[in-house]
Order: sequence, then structure tokens, then C-alpha cells
Amino acid sequence: MDFKFTEEHEMIKNAARDFAKNELLPGVIERDEKQTFPKEQIKKLGELGFMGMMVDPKYGGSGMDTISYVLAMEEISKIDASCSVIMSVNNSLVCWGIETFGTDQQKEKYLKPLATGEVIGAFCLSEPEAGSDATSQKTTAIDMGDHYLLNGTKNWITNGSSASVFLVIAQTDVEKGYKGINAFIVEKEMDGFVVGLKENKLGIRGSDTHSLMFTDVKVPKENRIGDDGFGFTFAMKTLAGGRIGIAAQALGIASGAYELSLEYSKQRKAFGKEISKHQAIAFKLSDMATEIEAARLLCLKAAWLKDNNKNYDKASAIAKVFSSEVAMKTTVEAVQVHGGYGFVKEYHVERLMRDAKITQIYEGTSEIQRIVISRSVLK
Ligand code: CAA
Repeated sequence: MDFKFTEEHEMIKNAARDFAKNELLPGVIERDEKQTFPKEQIKKLGELGFMGMMVDPKYGGSGMDTISYVLAMEEISKIDASCSVIMSVNNSLVCWGIETFGTDQQKEKYLKPLATGEVIGAFCLSEPEAGSDATSQKTTAIDMGDHYLLNGTKNWITNGSSASVFLVIAQTDVEKGYKGINAFIVEKEMDGFVVGLKENKLGIRGSDTHSLMFTDVKVPKENRIGDDGFGFTFAMKTLAGGRIGIAAQALGIASGAYELSLEYSKQRKAFGKEISKHQAIAFKLSDMATEIEAARLLCLKAAWLKDNNKNYDKASAIAKVFSSEVAMKTTVEAVQVHGGYGFVKEYHVERLMRDAKITQIYEGTSEIQRIVISRSVLK
């Protein structure tokens, strides 16, 4: 076992850290307040190769491993979790899904612009009545011969209005249950596709979350991913990798809050000394450091398993459930360390606390992760 990063890993981590500090930090409070999508910043992330990090260079990607992805996600999330969720959905759900299961034609047409960041993708599984219960899809795609006719509504879609390429999960044969589910590549310009209202969220407010409506959208047959009936397995496999991205996002939110707390506690004085010298604060910092280190190791282990073609379903669920709980706990404590200053926007920790909550909800709630883990340990 080797805990040392390669030189390339260090370079990627530093590049992501510099980018976050120089390009994301300025304006992050305002983007959160006004719910402004970080368009320019995402464009630059694409130019740096961070929107298709793990995609083969022949499809315009950076050909990096999942460890690199975790390192970059942590650094970006320390400063701007809105930006990192846009990046995560594009990388680990959309690009990975198409690269791993798509046809050559789908990769040529859709993966290349997604991997370079020229366009953004979205992953559309959740519905008004099918969030955690993902097999209960009400969106239908009826086989019409040379195309499918898509009808239904999707909810909580990250990149809902900014994406151009949408991976949509739909029921093609109700009789077959989850074996009658398929995944399709849908373009924003297709007739009958309408982007609904933007959600006004507690956190990750710079990212755009929408409902989507499909009315008789004609999706060409060649846009189906995999064999007929592969859609649910596609969604589960894709989400297993996506959970590594969200675990790393949670890790970044936690470590961002910890770094701010460390810095603040060494400057702020109370009762005649820096507050870091009071054990009440020092113990909070040491708990944060301990839990963040454990979360980081879990994220890296899941990434390592994926990079080494081993099963990572359980590991990614463990990384996500643990890291997201650490993110929530750490950010609440970070606000406490900052006292009254933590409650105002200028000090960033209140935003990190709001951003942390979603990591326990999307790409499978903490309860769903426990289902995945328990099924694995009890089998
Ligand atoms: N890989 C391959 N196959 C899998 C799998 C995996 N990881 N997980 C399940 N399957 C297979 C099962 O083996 C089973 O097939 P067989 O019958 O042939 O064995 C089939 O899929 C059905 O599985 P289950 O019986 O386990 O299905 P279930 O109804 O009990 O649901 C679940 C399982 C884990 C709860 C699943 O529904 C789930 O993960 N739900 C959460 C969905 C989710 O994460 N939603 C988030 C939306 S996406 C998002 O948030 C993106 C964004 O914008 C940020």
C-alpha cells in the first residue's frame, strides 16, 4: 500500500486549488446570493480539462484517473460547491455513462463536446414520485419503430437549463418493471422538450436545478444507450461512480470549512489569547481534522477500486454517506468556531453549511447509501 500521491496527482491538486482561489473565490458570495450560474468559470474549467477529466483523450478528455478527479473535486468544492456539482454531474454521470456504455457514434457526436466542456450534460432520473424509489419511473418512451416517443416530467435536474445534452431514464415497457427501463440521449433542441422553473434552493445556489417536461419528444432509436432494458442497470452503475464525485464534493466542503476555522481561530482573540489556544476550540479542530482525514481516505479508496476495475458499489456508498455526514457536522462546527462572524456571509462558512446539506440528499440520500451498504454486507 502506498499513500503517496504521484507528481501528476500533486500537479492536478495544485492546479485545481489555484483555479479555485483565483477564479472561483472572487464573486462566490454574490453568485450564491443571486443564484448566478458560473458560466465563465465552467468554460475555463473546460479549457483546463476538468469537465472530462477521466475521458479518453481521443474523445477530447484528459485521460486522468479517478484519484485525480477526487483531488480536483475536493479543491474546487472547498471554495465553490455550486461549481463542483456542475463539474461532477458532467464528469461522472454524463461523460462516464456515454463513454462506458455508448456506441462509437454516440461518443463521436455527444461525448467529445461534453468532455471538452464545450457543452454541459445533465442526468435525468428523478421524478416527482421517483427519487429514491428509482424503479418507479412514470416517464415513458414508447417504441415507434425508428424512434421512441418520450413523455413525462423529471425533477431536481442539476444543469437543467444550462445543459445541452440530457441522459433521460424512462419506462419503455411497464409490464417488465425495472427490466423495461431504458436510458436515452436527448438534445435540448428536440421538439416537445421544455425546461421548467428553476428551484430556489437552500444551497449550491449557483448551480441551476430545474424540472423538465417532455411531450411527444421524438428520440431517435440510435440515441438509446445499451441493449433494450439496460436503463436501470445503466443508472445504478453510473450513480455508483457519481457517488465518488459527491463524496469528494462533501469532503471539499468539510475541508474548506475546516481550513477557514483553523485560520480564523489563530487570529481571533478572546479571554486574552487566540481562541485556538482554548481547548474548547482546539478539540473541535482536532475532531474536524480526524473526520476529514477518514473521509478523504474513503473517497480515495473508492476511487482506487474504480481505477483498478474492482467493484466499488459499496465503497462509493460508504464514502458518500460518511463524507456527507462529516460535511454537515464540520460546517455546523465551523460556524460555531466563527461565532457571530460565522453567521454572516462574508466569512463563507454559513454558505458551506448550507451547501453541505445537499450532499446527504442527491445521488441517493444517506438512507439509500445505507440500503446499498447493508445489502452488500448482509448478502
Ligand atoms: N449495478 C448493477 N446493477 C444494479 C446495481 C448496480 N450498482 N444496483 C442494483 N442493480 C440491479 C439489481 O441487481 C437488480 O437486478 P436483478 O434483479 O437482475 O438482480 C436491479 O438492478 C433492481 O435492483 P433492486 O432490486 O436493488 O432495486 P430497488 O428498487 O430495491 O432499488 C436502490 C435499489 C439502491 C434503492 C435504487 O433505487 C437507488 O439507488 N435509488 C436512489 C436513486 C438515486 O440515487 N437518485 C438520485 C438521482 S440522480 C441525481 O441526484 C443527479 C443530480 O442531478 C445531482
